[in-house]
Amino acid sequence: MQICKTPVDLQALKAQNIGFVPTMGALHAGHLSLIERARAENDFVIVSIFVNPTQFGANEDFSTYPHPLEKDLELCAKAGVGAVFTPQADSLYPFKEAISLNPPKDLLGFEADLRPGHFNGVLQVVLKLFNLVRPTKAYFGQKDAQQLLIIQRMVQDLFLPVEIVPCPILRDFDGLALSSRNVYLSPEQRQLALKIPKALNTIHEAYKAGITQGTNLLALGQEILSPLEVQYLSLVNRQLIPLEHIEPNNSLILVAVRVGTTRLLDNLWL
Ligand code: PAF
Repeated sequence: MQICKTPVDLQALKAQNIGFVPTMGALHAGHLSLIERARAENDFVIVSIFVNPTQFGANEDFSTYPHPLEKDLELCAKAGVGAVFTPQADSLYPFKEAISLNPPKDLLGFEADLRPGHFNGVLQVVLKLFNLVRPTKAYFGQKDAQQLLIIQRMVQDLFLPVEIVPCPILRDFDGLALSSRNVYLSPEQRQLALKIPKALNTIHEAYKAGITQGTNLLALGQEILSPLEVQYLSLVNRQLIPLEHIEPNNSLILVAVRVGTTRLLDNLWL
């Protein structure tokens, strides 16, 4: 497995049909499932490990974000990754004033309201990474649903020559959606966090039993989540427009909850 530490190293790499998995490291089974899929569908897989400073707000966890690089590299090697890109911030952001990208207004709200500037940073780094890696396909988890929709829009709007492959959420043994931030949870907080998948399951079961009205479904979820700090629990379509009723194959239940100081996101694609 090659390790490319700078954009120049990466640009020197000769490969075709590249499957790309962009990450911020602290890899877990969710990332490994993206890598596995990328391996199955491409000749060569590149993983980037970069905690992108521009997508973190001033009071967020940029400085404490887990960074087990050696372990991540071992996992990548075992998973059959061809090359890992581990740049330093100054090599990805060579100019003090970087070009920035605005997410489209119709896909704002939710994370964008709670983390102003977050998606500008995500788009900025993902576009740089796409330009350096030049992947045929790039793999993103559906757990970060809004990120996925905004990146898909960027690709369409800027005619980027890459196919975005959405990948299903992976859950831990207890149902909690896998996230690098789960390590922040104490055992007690983790128990509380399990209300999130429970709420989504209850909504899903109710939908399968014939309830389609948003207020009814969300009330069921809200009851389970109480007394957690729910930042949002919403029914939207896949353009993030609020829905009154589930539209089959075009609906999303989005949830963000704060447990202690940790924000946890989850969702259900219906
Ligand atoms: O989802 C993430 O891990 C990050 O937002 C990404 C896409 C790697 C950009 O830094």
